[in-house]
Amino acid sequence: MMIKNAAFVTSMAAYHENPPITLPQLAVVGKSNVGKSSLINTLCRRKNLCKTSSTPGKTRLINVFLINDSFHLIDLPGYGFAKVNQTEKQRWGEMMEAYFRESTLLKHALQLVDIRHEPTDDDIAMAAFYRSIGIPFTVIATKADKISRGARMKHIAPICRAMQKQPWEVIPFSAADQTGREELLQHIETLMA
Ligand code: GTP
Ligand code: MG
Repeated sequence: MMIKNAAFVTSMAAYHENPPITLPQLAVVGKSNVGKSSLINTLCRRKNLCKTSSTPGKTRLINVFLINDSFHLIDLPGYGFAKVNQTEKQRWGEMMEAYFRESTLLKHALQLVDIRHEPTDDDIAMAAFYRSIGIPFTVIATKADKISRGARMKHIAPICRAMQKQPWEVIPFSAADQTGREELLQHIETLMA
């Protein structure tokens, strides 16, 4: 798939389905700082479509992007960021849960995990959550540039075990060197067709 155009649509503090809009959605999910916003920018070949930051907790709202006038890419705030207070954590949790509960247009989730680390309890809980609500998901192993090509499988194996996926179902990805960009675009084309 070629992304010919990508446009910011809206930011929401709480998810509201907009009745005239009936496009399918692809959500980008993962812990804070894993590279969600960078992945969207890389896919769209845009530097600042999504704001990124080395400080976790950058994305605080549900950000909606329109891709090729055919589907919505949803950039969600990350979870598992230790430095936010309890009230803020609860607000994020509620916002995310309401999104997954209320979105009737969500077709698939891209679940991002850092290739260098084993999935966290929150990541594993997300996998269980998708399975419980019947939303299919693809695991993307981000920051692949941090691991040599030869060592990648060694890192992907524990990710597969934790997330209950097969190795060929996990896509290594890098916003830094574009690893996995074409493969992911092709995958998205079949998902959103
Ligand atoms: P929140 O919005 O806080 O949930 O974070 P996020 O998941 O959107 O992460 P973001 O894209 O803002 O990236 C976080 C940090 O990781 C930034 O400093 C990025 O430059 C860096 N980063 C993202 N992707 C990659 C990658 O593929 N390789 C490397 N080396 N760094 C990356
Ligand atoms: Mg972000």
